[in-house]
Amino acid sequence: MSERIAIRIRRCDTKRVSTLVERIREVSDLSAGEAEHLRMLCSSWQVLADLSFSDLLLYVPSRDEDEYEVCAQLRPFTSQTLYPHDMVRTKVTQPEQPIVERAYREGRVWAQEDPVLVDGVPIRMDAVPVRFRGKVIAVVTKEGSPATSRRPGRLEQVYLDAAEHFSEMIAEGSYPYPEMPTGDWPRVGDGLLRFDDSGRLSWASPNALSSIRRLGVKQNILGRYLAEMGLGGAPVREALESQRLFDGEFVRGDNYVLLRVLPLIAGGRSVGAIALARDVSEIRQKERVISGKDALIREIHHRVKNNLQTIASLLRLQGRRLQSDEAKAALEESVLRIGSIALVHETLSEQPGDVAEFGDVARRITHMVSEGLVLPDSGVEIKVAGSTGPLGADVATPLAVSVTELLQNALEHAFPNDVGGTIGVELDRTPDHVSIVVWDDGVGMSPTVEEGARLGLQIVRSLVQEMGGTFDITSDSGTRVELRVPLRT
Ligand SMILES: Nc1ncnc2c1ncn2[C@@H]1O[C@H](COP(=O)(O)OP(=O)(O)O)[C@@H](O)[C@H]1O
Ligand SMILES: [Mg+2]
Repeated sequence: MSERIAIRIRRCDTKRVSTLVERIREVSDLSAGEAEHLRMLCSSWQVLADLSFSDLLLYVPSRDEDEYEVCAQLRPFTSQTLYPHDMVRTKVTQPEQPIVERAYREGRVWAQEDPVLVDGVPIRMDAVPVRFRGKVIAVVTKEGSPATSRRPGRLEQVYLDAAEHFSEMIAEGSYPYPEMPTGDWPRVGDGLLRFDDSGRLSWASPNALSSIRRLGVKQNILGRYLAEMGLGGAPVREALESQRLFDGEFVRGDNYVLLRVLPLIAGGRSVGAIALARDVSEIRQKERVISGKDALIREIHHRVKNNLQTIASLLRLQGRRLQSDEAKAALEESVLRIGSIALVHETLSEQPGDVAEFGDVARRITHMVSEGLVLPDSGVEIKVAGSTGPLGADVATPLAVSVTELLQNALEHAFPNDVGGTIGVELDRTPDHVSIVVWDDGVGMSPTVEEGARLGLQIVRSLVQEMGGTFDITSDSGTRVELRVPLRT
C-alpha cells in the first residue's frame, strides 16, 4: 500500500490550517459559490462512502499547474480504509491519475476498466466529476476493494446501486441538494430503506426493519407505502415531489425513529429514494429529562425568590416598630440587599438554562431602589444601557448586591438639596470579563470619605475582590464607579 502511495503522490510539505473553502480558493480558480458547493458535498458525502464501501478523495484542479490537489478525504464506516494516511494536501499530476483527468474533462463518471492489484489486493477506482451550475468544478474518486468488503448479497447490491445513483447525481449537479442539514447525519449502518419512484418500499436493511417493528408495525412492509403501515408517508412523498432532502420523525409511545429521505434524481426526474432511519428514542428521552430538569431549576429559583421576599417583608415590618433612626436605616438597607438577591432569582426563574441577562436584573434593581427611597419629584433619572449576556447566579448575585449599593449611594448622596440629575448604569462584556459602570452627574464624592467606616462601599469592595475583579472610583464632576469581574468558563 505504501508503495502505491509513493508512486502516485507528491506530498506537499507546507501545512497550514485553513478551512476547506479557504483552501479550495487558495489552490484553484473556483468562485466562492463553487467552493461552497464542494463544502456542502463534503459535509454530506459519508452516505456515498458507506454505500460504495469506498474511500473518497476530493480532487480540486490547481490554479497554475497541470495538477490536482486533494482537498478532502473520507473513509467508509462499512469497509476497511485503503488510506490509513492523511491524503489532504497531496498533489497529483494528470498522467498519474488518468481517470481523474478524464472525468474532469469529459464530465462523465469514469470507472477503471479492471481492478488494479495493490499488494495482491484488487482495488477498484471510480472518478466522479462534480458539477455545479452546468460546469465541472472538481472530481471525487471512490476507491474500494471488493475483496475487503463482505460477500456480495442483497444488501451490498442495494448499497452499490444507490451509490451509483448518487455518483451520477454528483456528476449531473443534483447532489448535494439545494439545502443540506448541518450537524450529525444518521448513518447508513443505522438503518437504510429503499423506495421506488412511487414511494413504495422496495427494501429495508435489518436495522431499519427493527426500528420499524419497534414502531408497532407488524405486517409485511415490503412493496407497500409507509402510509399503509400507519406511519404517514409524507416525508417520502415530499422528497420525491420536491426533489429535496426531507426529514421526518415517527413516534409511537417511547419510540422515536428519525427518517432522512434522499430522493434519487436522474435527468431531472425522481426515480426513487433512499432513507436513512435512525432510532433516536434514547436521545429524545434524554432531551425530555433535560427540559424537565430545566423546569425544576426554574421552579427552585422561583421559590428562593419568594422566600427572600418573605424575609425582606418581615424585616420591613420590624423596622417600622423601631424608634432609632439608625436602626431603621440599617434594616431598610438590609431589605434592599435581600431584595436585590431576590431579583436575581426572579430573573433566573423566568429564563431557561439557569442564566440571566444582567441588564434585566439591573432594570429591576433600578425600579426597586427608586421605589424604596422617598424621592418626591427629585428629577433624578436612572438609565440602564448595554448588556452583559447571560450570567449564572454565582456572578449575577454579588453584582446585583453591588449595583444596589452603588445606585443607593448615588440617589442618597449625589444630589443633595433636591437638585435633579442623571444616574447611569452601563453594562459591557468582553470574552472574559463583565464590566459595570455606575455613574452620576452629582456633587462628586469627597476625597475625605473614609471608606472603611461605612458599610456600603465596603460590601461592594469585598464582593468584587471575592470574584477576583477590580473596583475603581473616579470623582471629578460627579462620581463614576467601575466594576470589572473575570468570567470563569
Ligand atoms: N455617588 C456618590 N456621590 C457622592 N458621594 C458619594 C457617592 N457614593 C458614595 N458617596 C460618599 O461615600 C460615602 C460612603 O458610602 P457608603 O459606604 O455606601 O456608606 P453610606 O451610603 O452608608 O454612607 C457616603 O457616605 C458618601 O459620602
Ligand atoms: Mg451607601
